[in-house]
Formats: sequence, structure tokens, C-alpha cells
Amino acid sequence: MATNEIIQDIDAVVGETLLTEKEIQQRVAELGQQITQDFAGIATSEKPLIVLGVLKGVLFFLADLMREIDVPNEIHFIDISAAKSSNGHYQDLPNYLEQAINNRHVLFVEDIVDAGLTLSYVSRILYQGNPESVSVCTLLSKEANRIMDVDIRYTGFEIEPVYVIGYGLDFKEQFRNLRYIGVLKK
Ligand code: IMP
Repeated sequence: MATNEIIQDIDAVVGETLLTEKEIQQRVAELGQQITQDFAGIATSEKPLIVLGVLKGVLFFLADLMREIDVPNEIHFIDISAAKSSNGHYQDLPNYLEQAINNRHVLFVEDIVDAGLTLSYVSRILYQGNPESVSVCTLLSKEANRIMDVDIRYTGFEIEPVYVIGYGLDFKEQFRNLRYIGVLKK
């Protein structure tokens, strides 16, 4: 299938529902409460929690999670594809971000951690900005596929190593707008 081919038949692509909208929202609320508890008194209006997401998959999760976090916070995004140089290596953190995270507590939010490559690369570049701490929160984790040693503080759901779509996650850039998470048909 060509990358830009328009996929019209959703039933041909999306198989079983792995997580319903209700299950996702419930878990997101729990994660938000946990994060609120953990950062109460630590994140302040002088020093808000930096909530940082990687585009584009984290879009809906981050929007929902932020609204469940009840400590002062700021939102920032990294576009990993834009941050990659032509030789495939990640470039330095953008200057504004380096300044934003300096001496601050960072909550790094991921849609899904699979092999852990993205997370370990981003963690490495984040430390260039001298944050006070970095805590990782992922909606989904496929631990069975992990090849990098990553430290995840908050996990929404541990899932089997299947390809999933919806709630921000795409197949050929489509299906991000599904309210649930489904398994891609083979
Ligand atoms: P990792 O670097 O191997 O951990 O992969 C993480 C990235 O791969 C995620 O941020 C997604 O962009 C993508 N990815 C991995 N598994 C899936 C999936 O099941 N559905 C959609 N995207 C995925």
C-alpha cells in the first residue's frame, strides 16, 4: 500500500478493540491523580511541571492527561522527525526547550514505548537541558519488544506486542482520530 493511499474501509484495517474510550479515560484520570499526588508541593507556580510530549501520537493522550493534572504545569512538544538530521541522528535540543527545562521537573509523555529507542534517544537529549528531574509517562508499553533499558515511572497499559491504532496512534498517518485503541489487521 502506498504511503499516501487513502484508506477508506476502516473495517479492513482495524481489528479487535483493545481499549475502549471508557477504559482509556478511566486510566488517564488515574494517571493524572497519581502524577498530581507525586508532584504536589514540588511543582509550583514559580516552577511549574514541564509536560513534554513527542508529536504526533501523543496528541490526545497529552491533552487528556494535562486536564487531569492538578499542579502548575507548562506544555511543550518535540517533533522528533524534524529533530532528526539527514544522517538519521538526533540533533541537539532546540534552544528554547533547553532553557525551558533548565533546573525544572520534566514529565516526558509518550504514546507508546515499543523497543524503547525513541525514549532512550529523547532522554539523552533532554539531559542536555539540565533538568532537575525527568519522569517518563507512557500510555502504552510493549515490554516484550524492548531492546533498550528504559526507566518508565507511569505506565497506562502494558500490552501484547501487536500494532495498535487510534487515540493518536496511526497507520500510514491515518486513524489517529479513533476514540478507542484497536489492533491493526494483518
Ligand atoms: P520505539 O522507539 O521502538 O519505542 O517506538 C516508539 C514509537 O514507534 C512510537 O512513538 C510510535 O510512533 C511507534 N509505534 C510503536 N508501536 C506502535 C504501534 O503499535 N502503533 C503505532 N505506532 C507505534
